[in-house]
Amino acid sequence: MTTTSTTRAPSHSNADVATAPSLEELWMPFTANRAFKRAPRMLVAAKDMYYTAADGRQILDGTAGLWCVNAGHCREPITAAIREQAGVLDYAPPFQMGHPLAFELAQQLTRMLPDGIDRIFFGNSGSEAVDTSLKIALAYWQAKGEPQRVRFIGRQRGYHGVGFGGIAVGGIESNRKQFAGQLLPAVDHLPHTHDLENNAYTRGQPQHGAHFADALEEMVIKHGANTIAAVIIEPVAGSTGVIIPPKGYLERIREICDKHGILLIFDEVITGFGRLGASFGAEKFGVVPDMMTVAKGITNATVPMGAVCVRHDIYDAVVNSSGAGIELFHGYTYSGHPLAAAAGLATLEVYRTEGLFERAASLESFWEDAVHSLRGAPNVIDLRNIGIVGAIELEPRPGAPGARGFETFLKCFEAGVLVRSTADTLALSPPLIVERDQISHMFEVVGNALRNVA
Ligand SMILES: Cc1ncc(COP(=O)(O)O)c(C=O)c1O
Repeated sequence: MTTTSTTRAPSHSNADVATAPSLEELWMPFTANRAFKRAPRMLVAAKDMYYTAADGRQILDGTAGLWCVNAGHCREPITAAIREQAGVLDYAPPFQMGHPLAFELAQQLTRMLPDGIDRIFFGNSGSEAVDTSLKIALAYWQAKGEPQRVRFIGRQRGYHGVGFGGIAVGGIESNRKQFAGQLLPAVDHLPHTHDLENNAYTRGQPQHGAHFADALEEMVIKHGANTIAAVIIEPVAGSTGVIIPPKGYLERIREICDKHGILLIFDEVITGFGRLGASFGAEKFGVVPDMMTVAKGITNATVPMGAVCVRHDIYDAVVNSSGAGIELFHGYTYSGHPLAAAAGLATLEVYRTEGLFERAASLESFWEDAVHSLRGAPNVIDLRNIGIVGAIELEPRPGAPGARGFETFLKCFEAGVLVRSTADTLALSPPLIVERDQISHMFEVVGNALRNVA
């Protein structure tokens, strides 16, 4: 049912006004719906580094969409592959049936992964990948004859999507509190590693904080190692405001997991596909987990897709311990969808032929200097960077946490640059095709915005 006073989407011309869609019906995700509908920000097209807004303005994409358009927008090889596939095989059921592209993408993907991680389970999003990885961990321990290993260890401020598994292991309180009555019961959280007192204005990995990993030993003492199925963490936490692992921290987590036979899952939904100037966080930091969840950049965000990348002996344990028939009672109607698989193959090819991960690595020091050029700007209390990720943390306004960050995001958008605000941290993570002058421009705009926000 439509309401009488319908808010309409902005349109290019007066002629479109009558046909522009109403804004009332759509319940927008992770959005202040009422405020947005009063003053919508609409994007209508995109190409390479730019969005086109509904009023025709070009908006420089400082965030690769939502950390996902790593090769830039509307790249012809990728869109052509999707178009072509849509006319050949639009859909194939993934249960008890297959199609070649899904197998090919799984094979291509494993070539980019650490040795031994070479089995791939497809889903449609990061959230699905996370929940799938938790299920695989449980199935693995059942197969290994240790069915009592059911506990998951996440981390404060971790973001692992929005499934019930993901919000239970995740550590962002605002994402949990509306659903707190029904979260997974056996979960604990490591402390986060954000430590401004010791690490403010660090370039790259902070020196201080490997000891935060030792909390895992305390959890082993508290719960018993033989009740813990897996630890899940992001190598670099993104959605919570960019938290970069202190030197030695991930190594220590790996060591403790090994000591107690606990599986280690890296949630690489943001850190994958060149974001850190390496294929994955595992490569960047030289720490190999047992499973990796990926999504976003796998298809350059053109068609939804996520995946769990699994050590082959985990796959072997689950598959070989089962009798004849289905081994893992889990899957999605669109697991390995042909359009997503085609998009994924074309995307990986673009990454390879354009050397985008190497490009990101070669831009890293220029990027770092650009991030830190904002030192001394109003209300800035920290700047941090790794790969092509930068964060600008602002002093929260007393009594109004998040307001200053959001207003700065709005000012940047008005000035033609898309940044992301999470609470009072601004995060930047542009497509890896970004040029140096575009980087300079981005930070100039952010600097001006900071000077204009009280
Ligand atoms: C680390 C991490 N895991 C999982 C997700 C969830 O992915 P999706 O939104 O595709 O479900 C995200 C999304 O930003 C993420 O950053």
